[in-house]
Amino acid sequence: MSTRSNSFADLACESLSRRGFLTATAALPSLSLMASEAQAAPAGFKAVAENRLDTVVVPEGYVWQPLISWGEPLFEGMAPLQPEKRGAPFNFTRAEQENRFGTHNDMLALFPANWAYPWPEGTVTRAIMCVNHEAVSPFMAAPGSDGQPIDTGTDALEALYACMGVSVFDVAHDPASGAWSVVKGPAIGVGRNRRVTPFSEVVFDGSAANHPWIVKAGAIVNEVEGARSGAPKVSGAVKAGTFQNCAGGFTPWGTYLTAEENFNSQFFTSNKTSPALVEAQADAAFAADQSIYRYDNIWRIGGPAQFDLSRNPHGPSLYGWIVEIDPYDPDWRPHKHTALGRKANECATTVLSKTNKAVVYTGDDSNNQFVYKFVSRDQFDPTNRIANRSLLAHGTLYAARLEADGTGRWIALTAAAANRAPRGPGDTPFANDGDVMVRCREAALRLGATKMDRPEDVESPTDGSFRGTGTVFVMCTGNQSDSGRAGNAANPRRKTIAGDGLERNHQGHIVRIEEARQDPAALTFTWDIFAVAGDPSGEVAPVTNAEGEVVNVSSWHLGKPTTTGDRFAMPDNITFDHRKFGWITTDGTPRTFPCNDGVYVMPTVGKGPRPVKRFLTVPVGAECCGPLLAWDQKTFFCGVQHVGAESITGQDYRGEPNGPYSSFPTGGWPRDAVVYVRRRDGGTVGT
Ligand code: FEO
Ligand code: CA
Repeated sequence: MSTRSNSFADLACESLSRRGFLTATAALPSLSLMASEAQAAPAGFKAVAENRLDTVVVPEGYVWQPLISWGEPLFEGMAPLQPEKRGAPFNFTRAEQENRFGTHNDMLALFPANWAYPWPEGTVTRAIMCVNHEAVSPFMAAPGSDGQPIDTGTDALEALYACMGVSVFDVAHDPASGAWSVVKGPAIGVGRNRRVTPFSEVVFDGSAANHPWIVKAGAIVNEVEGARSGAPKVSGAVKAGTFQNCAGGFTPWGTYLTAEENFNSQFFTSNKTSPALVEAQADAAFAADQSIYRYDNIWRIGGPAQFDLSRNPHGPSLYGWIVEIDPYDPDWRPHKHTALGRKANECATTVLSKTNKAVVYTGDDSNNQFVYKFVSRDQFDPTNRIANRSLLAHGTLYAARLEADGTGRWIALTAAAANRAPRGPGDTPFANDGDVMVRCREAALRLGATKMDRPEDVESPTDGSFRGTGTVFVMCTGNQSDSGRAGNAANPRRKTIAGDGLERNHQGHIVRIEEARQDPAALTFTWDIFAVAGDPSGEVAPVTNAEGEVVNVSSWHLGKPTTTGDRFAMPDNITFDHRKFGWITTDGTPRTFPCNDGVYVMPTVGKGPRPVKRFLTVPVGAECCGPLLAWDQKTFFCGVQHVGAESITGQDYRGEPNGPYSSFPTGGWPRDAVVYVRRRDGGTVGT
């Protein structure tokens, strides 16, 4: 799609009150642009009402269907699902899960059946789909059969880990009926369908590939996992695989980028005084890293030995990376690109700069963390797909600093710069640039990057050419932390109901960045608050949230509403259609509003306030994620993740007899799924 944005004028308009007219006019290219810009128009469908139904709800005239759900085999010859079974709808072993669709599906991507550049934009009958599997709920996957809430046998623990990672599979589309279907591989291991799991072979590249933490941990993983499944088949590979795969992206050269997010939560400590752990903790940098990420298994039920900090204290350095997978080439091992930094990566959005460099935007989804971009050293070669798989190995990583006056700059994260910056008493120097990549959060903080309210998706609209327009949207999901209470100019705070302080950012907001000269590789930018999530009805809009607090959930900013129409909360992922509408998925709406998470459509160009329409809601307990439009714009896909994991009263499912809290999609035990939505008349969605 062609999405050259004229939103600089919009940015300038909204910035005038903040910066003052006289100083701002000097920066404006043309005030006439501002005067001519039309009011943003709403999307063309009848919005879905707020609801807490246990099903997917779409607008009148639309129909939804599941494409694939947890446990479905990716290969012919495998046993069919047993939907009536409690927990995993198949024999829940690691070997089975390694060949079936995983749980907690998040990011979705489609690839042309045969790669060509630019990418096709019309209707297709075949494609490849890649899907992330972010997490796993042991309570949902392995409920015990003997009165215990969870089955913690060794194979069940390994099977739990194998739920995470990535699924790659062929899909077929029948344009006449609108149906999409999974094309199974002819037999396990044959064809390009596959799972990538926490046990798969991966290769590290970039400046941290030989970092001592990674080398040590990699050797332990290969020793432990090697005893289970044999040595890596590829020299230099590590059987560390990937997990906590949240959002991601895709590259012009036809590869998939999966972002490892909350990797810290997959580790456990069987012995807090083990010599290996004690020795590691003597290193101040390790101790700082452990406290920054708080390595700890969220379920406290143990797991495979490579994830035991007592045995493998540096194991967490193998995760938190952007991982490149080639959907077309199962023999090419997924590459962990250390040059893009280790953090709780949400996404990896690739666009091409004015000089054909690959620019990859990432967000670190934690309270008070940062927005990043990577600029490759080398140029994209549209005639050599394979050569481009090295592009993300070499380049510069930057973190964003957003100034209060609406300007900003990208700070290069290098050891030389970070070691020149002021250091606190416990801060240790960086040994080299690879050490900066491993300890990315520390470097960005020391160099003055701007703390953000959980920056998740960082997306830039583009078309099949992947040419960047310089416009970038940052989805900030919110910030409930005490330390982030005051916020900053780019992360504003609403008034509290009583007017006696600053409200935490319960609903999130969207920041827009305009790169200088519309070049994604630029080192400076301007920015504005594009929209504030929440209720447009007033500057003070009180709601009693799920925690029983009365909070202000207004979508106003600087005395004006930023939105009209449907209220929403906690924007997470976004994609864009050909008409420049953003399709936003939410994760956490029910904490604030009596409505399941869903999809909200708003124009990304035109003057605010921006009309918002609720396009879809997911069933009870689920977040909505992975928004994706087919190239012909006639199908919308999204993920239904952790369905049934929470009741409509906010009760987490932890094996209670009256749970889980959904029977999506087939009336039995709940299963996460990818769904797709079409217009009944086969037309363009959203119009
Ligand atoms: Fe996995 Fe940031 O959501
Ligand atoms: Ca997310």
